[in-house]
Amino acid sequence: MSILIKNIKQLLQVRDQPQKFVSGSAMNDLPKLNNAYLLIEHDTIADYGSMESMHGLTADHEIDATGKIILPAWCDSHTHIVFAGHREREFVDRINGLSYEEIAERGGGILNSAKMLAKQSEDQLFNLAADRIREVMALGTGAIEIKSGYGLTPEAEIKMLRVIKRIKKEFPLKVIPTFLGAHAIPENYKNNRQAYVDLVISHILPKVGEERLAKYIDVFCEKGYFDLGDTDRILTEAAKYGLRPKVHVNQFNAFGGVAIAVKHNALSVDHLEELNQEDIDVLQGTTTIPVALPACSFFLGIPYTPARRIIDSGLPLAIATDFNPGSAPSGNMNFVISTACIRLKMTPAEAINAATINGAYAMGIESQYGSITRGKRANLIITKPLSGYEILPYAFGTNHIEEVMINGEIIKKPQEKS
Ligand code: NIG
Ligand code: FE
Repeated sequence: MSILIKNIKQLLQVRDQPQKFVSGSAMNDLPKLNNAYLLIEHDTIADYGSMESMHGLTADHEIDATGKIILPAWCDSHTHIVFAGHREREFVDRINGLSYEEIAERGGGILNSAKMLAKQSEDQLFNLAADRIREVMALGTGAIEIKSGYGLTPEAEIKMLRVIKRIKKEFPLKVIPTFLGAHAIPENYKNNRQAYVDLVISHILPKVGEERLAKYIDVFCEKGYFDLGDTDRILTEAAKYGLRPKVHVNQFNAFGGVAIAVKHNALSVDHLEELNQEDIDVLQGTTTIPVALPACSFFLGIPYTPARRIIDSGLPLAIATDFNPGSAPSGNMNFVISTACIRLKMTPAEAINAATINGAYAMGIESQYGSITRGKRANLIITKPLSGYEILPYAFGTNHIEEVMINGEIIKKPQEKS
């Protein structure tokens, strides 16, 4: 099966030579073809070029994209999309003056999500997550990282990871699983954090490794959660199972989490709302990519990740949703793009690079996803007619997406599922 898309107003993120990620001033370069065609064979990008160079090319199926923009589907490299229920009561508590930390101290927060998740069967959890997956695919997400971390017991962590495995099997989008057993200290370990770290290392990690349930390891390295020593231990043990770190660091406090992550050759360091010069220095020349999560800052009212400092220091940056019930109850990458431009002062070109090629790198899938390159997966966003791609972040809150293609097939919108 082949598909030829013709008369594309702007074909974005076109890279003939595969590139691992873009950093520094190169992030402001978003290569594009005007008045272009795109040829898809099965699930793969076969060819592209300007309409003038298309000469007699035909395909089984043709699509006319006059006035429309086509770009790679979003690569959302940080989510907690498997969860049991919303935490809207905490939302109201925060409006009334409590902080995220105060809510957590009162047994809300991640522990509240763990309590809810314990009561759900694998099937129930899958169905809840599946609805969210359909929603984010329709919003343009073609690849997604999903973390465990609302289990906090061996059974419940494995249950979450099996749900993620099933999502991977049953949905066309690319799914990357991450083990986040060290997300919070369970109530019954409140006064013995080390015993919980031991449990993660000795009982959960080996099972995750044996069943190959995760590709990456994450730790919530934060005051009141897991300290530098815990993080160091967990990452050391996880390496024995081939799990590379993608770590929650510097969300509320900067105290050396970035350096620990870099020491363990982390693929990404995520959050970074608090960022020291030492953190920036330690990232220079490494293969660790910083990831900003602006929807979390928006929702919690905490500082935004200093994207300008990061990019202007020559580093790369990815952006992701952090979709979770506590700090970012939205999986909408389009909103993240807008927030990155409006609040992080990223240009539309930088934001789109951060959400495509750099997002793919932050999941280790950049050889197959994140750009319009011959041989890569045909995961695409086809917009409604637009005057230019800058409209995507500019006219925030409007859905500019007409169709989403994943693996060479136009996906059905959630309302069309029946
Ligand atoms: O990335 N900070 C840690 N984890 C999530 C929030 C989890 C929750 O509140 O449920 C985050 O913000
Ligand atoms: Fe997170």
